[in-house]
Amino acid sequence: MALKDSFGRPVENLRISVTQRCNFRCFYCHREGEDYNLGVEMLPEEIERIVRVAASLGIYGVKLTGGEPLMRGDIVEIVRRISSIAGIKDISMTTNGLYLTEYARQLREAGLKRVNVSLDTLSPEKFRFITGTNFHRDVINGIIEAVRAGLNPVKVNMVLLKGINEDEVDSMIGFAEDNGLVLQIIELESSYEDDLYIQHHANLEEIEKKLEGRAAQVIVRRMQHRKRYILRSGVEVEVVKPMHNNEFCLHCNRIRLTSDGKLKPCLFRNDNLVDILRPLREGADEKQLRELFIKAVEMRRPFFL
Ligand code: 5AD
Ligand code: SF4
Repeated sequence: MALKDSFGRPVENLRISVTQRCNFRCFYCHREGEDYNLGVEMLPEEIERIVRVAASLGIYGVKLTGGEPLMRGDIVEIVRRISSIAGIKDISMTTNGLYLTEYARQLREAGLKRVNVSLDTLSPEKFRFITGTNFHRDVINGIIEAVRAGLNPVKVNMVLLKGINEDEVDSMIGFAEDNGLVLQIIELESSYEDDLYIQHHANLEEIEKKLEGRAAQVIVRRMQHRKRYILRSGVEVEVVKPMHNNEFCLHCNRIRLTSDGKLKPCLFRNDNLVDILRPLREGADEKQLRELFIKAVEMRRPFFL
């Protein structure tokens, strides 16, 4: 039975930021709601212990995020340790894809099930503009390797950007069709300089209308900000709207763990973090760690009520 917070929301998923480091500089990056902080990172065995506590409280899904998770040389070990924990049924990762050609197979063998890869454009020039790097080809190769390695689904995250990639929705759908991918079209969120947001925020409504016309089936997920369109070609396209609404909060079933080992009850807040790494390093036993976890869950409040 999953742990419930005081609003009756079950806590089923843990999102772990394994590092703040990233080798890309996407201009829109929201850094998973963490402050800039390049301090300590958790060791693989520390992550394992925390996930064991989470699993003992009914959490069954783990998502590894960053920064860029593949910046960590020990990422395969981290996945292997998590997948060895009884009760953990689903491990996934969000990555920029740069090192996937190298890691996809090992990650799959270590127990990773599926992966989200950020790719906003099929144009190398636009890619350079968005990420500040020239690794476009490497990311595409990484995506293809992830499919080959048996990660399933491989989802491509496309943040829709006005004046940059709005005209690429059809070609990205084609890319997904050709390579056995799911396409996620994501509305830009404003957690950085406002003028960039105003300049590049694109509305998803028109795209949704078009998708509806092309869909054989539309599925609305429990997290209401997400709609899945199964197009007649068989390809799946998801549309992800901003999370700034009460529907999202109402259905939120996740808790976060920051890269420096703090439980984070809400994406939008940094004032109620519960440090679990420090007590762990100071010798806390299982029972004490469980109590910290429960304390963090009890602090969960819908941010948008
Ligand atoms: N708006 C929407 N999505 C974002 N991401 C990062 N920053 C933003 C933002 N401002 C998402 C992208 C990327 C993943 C790592 O986080 O989907 O693929
Ligand atoms: Fe942010 Fe991901 Fe881009 Fe890195 S690759 S800058 S973490 S969006």
